[in-house]
Amino acid sequence: MNLTPRQIVEELDKYIIGQSKAKRAVAIALRNRYRRSRLPKELREEITPKNIIMRGPTGVGKTEIARRLAKLVGAPFIKIEATKYTEVGYVGRDVESMIRDLVEVAVRMVKDEKSHEIEAKVSPIVESKLIDAICDTRRASDIAVDKTIATEDLRAGKLENEQIEVSVLDSQRPMVAIGGPEINIGSVFDGLLPQRHKKRRMSVQRARELLTSEECDRIIDKDNVYAEAIRRTEEEGIIFIDEIDKIIGKAGGSNNQDVSREGVQRDILPIVEGSTVATKYGNVKTDFILFIASGAFHVSNIEDMIPELQGRFPIRVDLDNLTKDDFKRILSEPKNSVTLQYASILKVDNIDLQFTDDALDEIAEMAATENETSENIGARRLHTIMESLLEDISFNASDEMPMTTVKIDRAYVQNAFKETKKKFDLKKFIL
Ligand SMILES: Nc1ncnc2c1ncn2[C@@H]1O[C@H](COP(=O)(O)OP(=O)(O)OP(=O)(O)O)[C@@H](O)[C@H]1O
Ligand SMILES: [Mg+2]
Repeated sequence: MNLTPRQIVEELDKYIIGQSKAKRAVAIALRNRYRRSRLPKELREEITPKNIIMRGPTGVGKTEIARRLAKLVGAPFIKIEATKYTEVGYVGRDVESMIRDLVEVAVRMVKDEKSHEIEAKVSPIVESKLIDAICDTRRASDIAVDKTIATEDLRAGKLENEQIEVSVLDSQRPMVAIGGPEINIGSVFDGLLPQRHKKRRMSVQRARELLTSEECDRIIDKDNVYAEAIRRTEEEGIIFIDEIDKIIGKAGGSNNQDVSREGVQRDILPIVEGSTVATKYGNVKTDFILFIASGAFHVSNIEDMIPELQGRFPIRVDLDNLTKDDFKRILSEPKNSVTLQYASILKVDNIDLQFTDDALDEIAEMAATENETSENIGARRLHTIMESLLEDISFNASDEMPMTTVKIDRAYVQNAFKETKKKFDLKKFIL
């Protein structure tokens, strides 16, 4: 958890090619939170996080960096689109909802951890409930029942798909709309409303999941969970505000849209500056939450943001445009690279997909050219190219055929796109 900036960058390198300035910036911001946490309390209170704005063209890894970062540190993390608060008819611009969502994530995280710790403890109870349900269900449809054998079969994993009637907590709760957002009163009054059990039909596997989580919920001390969730939200939470450039109007602009955008900035300001937001788990202080904003900034500039908000994002990093060489690396190097993804998907249907080095060159070259000649969509271009490149194989593969190795080389790539060009030409004629 206490990774050094160097280690953080190394981890990010496994998924994101290039963009070293942005990686360094987020790595430092993250480490600084750890550094701060080691300080005496009085000093700690004085040091607020240095929020970051990432600026760069579309599809070059802004969102990806934020996503990977959050996974890496196991911190409560949410990503929001700033534009959602400018939507026409958005009543009252509930920007505080981002904090409530973040706490929700933290609660789930803490609950999962705690459940994991006590799963072993509840498993005998769950097992005996499952066995009862299995026997009852069989009896109801006049199947001979032998509890010992059922127990053995269950333990051997033979009954996972058997359908059983089992009594589980009724998760459906009354919803009411109180002049605006729908509120789930069941969860607001958690624990106040009587919990109802209901018989439902499902697989043994699903029943085990539900019963386990029910039993865990019974044992886990909710107040502890909520307190820990709030602590993590306040001290480790990260909010990624995407499309921030879209809530920046033209400097001095005074049309309605500009005014509404500026309004959103003013609404967000107190949250970024530090305020207290009431959630159903308790109050959350937002002072130390880390905000990472990102945007393409095609039409607006950071400088057009209201000054108070600008001041809250002192770290600015520019992301680089991706080159042909970057594309080639993105195709093959990341742990979740596109080529790997397609290879593993097609393996299910007995295709062993292999890419030669010169095929990657060709694809990268095409992506770079396409981005120059039509719209620049960054690395997303690779996805569209790969999709049409493999369309034919994807369509024809099925697991009825024996394992086949398909080698994709430069010639294959060139050929594939010659074909589509022909098809396009043909269409022109028809029209
Ligand atoms: N530098 C990179 N290395 C590896 N993959 C990348 C890189 N840049 C983008 N990608 C891939 O391209 C896709 C789009 O990237 P991402 O969502 O990060 O774009 P973005 O910069 O946030 O763009 P936008 O401004 O449109 O939100 C993702 O699938 C991502 O994995
Ligand atoms: Mg993005």
